[in-house]
Amino acid sequence: MLVTLTINGEKVSADVAPSMRLLDFLRGRGLKAAKCGCDTTNCGACTVWLDGEPVLSCAVPMGRADGHAVTTLESLRAESELFARCMAAEGAEQCGFCSPGLIMNVLSLASKHPCATDEQIRRYLSGNLCRCSGYASQMRAVRRYLALARGEGDAAAADAAASRVSSAPAPCDREEAHHAE
Ligand code: FES
Ligand code: FES
Repeated sequence: MLVTLTINGEKVSADVAPSMRLLDFLRGRGLKAAKCGCDTTNCGACTVWLDGEPVLSCAVPMGRADGHAVTTLESLRAESELFARCMAAEGAEQCGFCSPGLIMNVLSLASKHPCATDEQIRRYLSGNLCRCSGYASQMRAVRRYLALARGEGDAAAADAAASRVSSAPAPCDREEAHHAE
């Protein structure tokens, strides 16, 4: 079937099988921040936004994506920079495989629930599995990020965190460096 969708602001048309996974379509176009971490729609590593809402791209067939707007982490470098710094400051990124999916959901969380409680954070991010961090450092990073995004928090600590990662590549670049096919 012929599908037409918008990917990171660019209109794209393609002839694909309706059952093709959005995840595979994106990765086939070189957008590899979203990952396949499971075959059971459980890990969250493939999270992108569909019309601004987080979805598991491994569970979205191209027939459903037709006519919609897809956003991937590649187009959110500036928006994700502060959270990436918070992750570095809290030691929340280990192998980094889960980070792109986590970031997509954290940015969504921040836009909807800027004052999220720990319980709301846990619930919102419950679909983002991480085999490395134990989640405690991720929680600290999310708390720090939400506070800084609200204009609260320790600016000096934020600056120190920023300087520690100022030369680091953007998360999606780092993902590809570690997990190049
Ligand atoms: S690849 Fe694991 S939920 Fe999509
Ligand atoms: S940091 Fe390795 S899976 Fe999350």
